[in-house]
Amino acid sequence: MRQHVNPLSKNFDEIEKIPSLIKMFDDSKLNLHVDIGCAAGEFLFNLALDNTNWNYIGMEIRERLVETAKLKVREKEIKNLFFVFGNANKILNDFQNKFILKSVKSISFNFPDPWFKKRHYKRRVIQPEFINYLSNSLQKESLIFIKTDVKDLFDYMDFTISSNLNFKKIDKKDFNYSESFNPKKLQTNREKYVIFNQLDIFERIYMKI
Ligand SMILES: C[S@@+](CC[C@H](N)C(=O)[O-])C[C@H]1O[C@@H](n2cnc3c(N)ncnc32)[C@H](O)[C@@H]1O
Repeated sequence: MRQHVNPLSKNFDEIEKIPSLIKMFDDSKLNLHVDIGCAAGEFLFNLALDNTNWNYIGMEIRERLVETAKLKVREKEIKNLFFVFGNANKILNDFQNKFILKSVKSISFNFPDPWFKKRHYKRRVIQPEFINYLSNSLQKESLIFIKTDVKDLFDYMDFTISSNLNFKKIDKKDFNYSESFNPKKLQTNREKYVIFNQLDIFERIYMKI
């Protein structure tokens, strides 16, 4: 399977229509987490089954993965998990989807595609304009989690988010995971691979102030 999809390709100009939270979830009042670039969504399936007091949305640009994940949600009758296909930047930037950012408690970017070449940096999911948009749309105290094994990408993401004065870094040691979207610190597939291969993980949490 092709691993890297160019999010700026015209194929992703059109956005899937997203239903309201009431249609997406059994209980739309639960805390909401969005995972961006969720691949096949295994991490989210584990989270959703483990934490039935949270709702989860996964966004992924590889359509086949999303189709399969959606089927699995239906088959397993999971009521607190929803998948959306497309470029997450475009999906969240669409005015019809503003309700997601107004309701979300936290967003994770787990091991985003690094796009190593400088001329491809614009394909990275975290962009200054996107962070600016998030900072204007998220409620106060909403959290952003970033995680990667690529130091250069971490520095870039950290610089981009920290440059926005509406976000402050949270010290991991002061952070209470038990109340977060991932109380048991479940790992994503990439994270398991990185840990197995004893590579470094760079991560940070930011709060909208
Ligand atoms: C390296 S994988 C990491 C998958 C998973 N988060 C993990 O930690 O195992 C990055 C994923 O992000 C997806 N992706 C990249 N750019 C995206 C975008 N703009 N919108 C949505 N998904 C994107 C890719 O297709 C890929 O599945």
